[in-house]
Amino acid sequence: MNDRGPFQGKFISFEGGDGVGKSTQSQRLSQRLERCGIEVVRTREPGGCPFSERLRHLLVSGSPETMDAKTELLLMTAARIEHVRQLIQPALKQGKWVVCDRFFDSTLAYQGFGRGMERSFIEMLHGWALGGWVPDLTILLTMDPQDGTKRSREKWGLLNGQGAEVRFEMEEAAFHQRVHEGFITLARNDPRRFRVIDAMSSEEIVMEAVWKAVKGVFPEVA
Ligand code: TYD
Repeated sequence: MNDRGPFQGKFISFEGGDGVGKSTQSQRLSQRLERCGIEVVRTREPGGCPFSERLRHLLVSGSPETMDAKTELLLMTAARIEHVRQLIQPALKQGKWVVCDRFFDSTLAYQGFGRGMERSFIEMLHGWALGGWVPDLTILLTMDPQDGTKRSREKWGLLNGQGAEVRFEMEEAAFHQRVHEGFITLARNDPRRFRVIDAMSSEEIVMEAVWKAVKGVFPEVA
């Protein structure tokens, strides 16, 4: 299922609920890999290439009711197809490493566990769209979802009523709890690919844990 075929680079994703600090950690990991002489493409979902960034705008802005869960799932999938086709696979083919904030596990966690859409259908859709392709390593950052959404809302100024990318942040606490538990379940079911790291510690401590996980899976970077 995860045969790299002609791809030589490595594909690492960061996952977790809103506000767990994925972007800070993925940025720091990318810099550290670059210091080891590895060429890194850092990217994110939804988005990552111009076409998919346009879909991102539709997906993350507005109110939770802006679209049906089915529309959301299809747009997330469409954004991912183009992101993989236009950016991720070409980079891997050139031997670059790709560090991505979120990937398919977010779809299982948010649209599956969060919105209650059937997991088998989401997996079938991913199988159809991208052959069920998943990263070589997935770092799951965890924290209490209430702390995470608070951090995320603060980031977007939502508490002052001027949020931007806040469609998901505006969801109720129970939604974020389901997403959180969903991620934990996914990690438990696939311990070979996932490494779970407590994101409540300081940025430095989390970074060291991320680095240790990466070195454990790819000893060549040490
Ligand atoms: P992101 O920018 O990573 O948000 P944050 O920095 O707050 O964690 O992602 C935007 C939102 O998109 C996020 O709330 C989760 C959601 N999302 C899905 O619901 N399904 C998906 O497949 C992906 C990739 C993201």
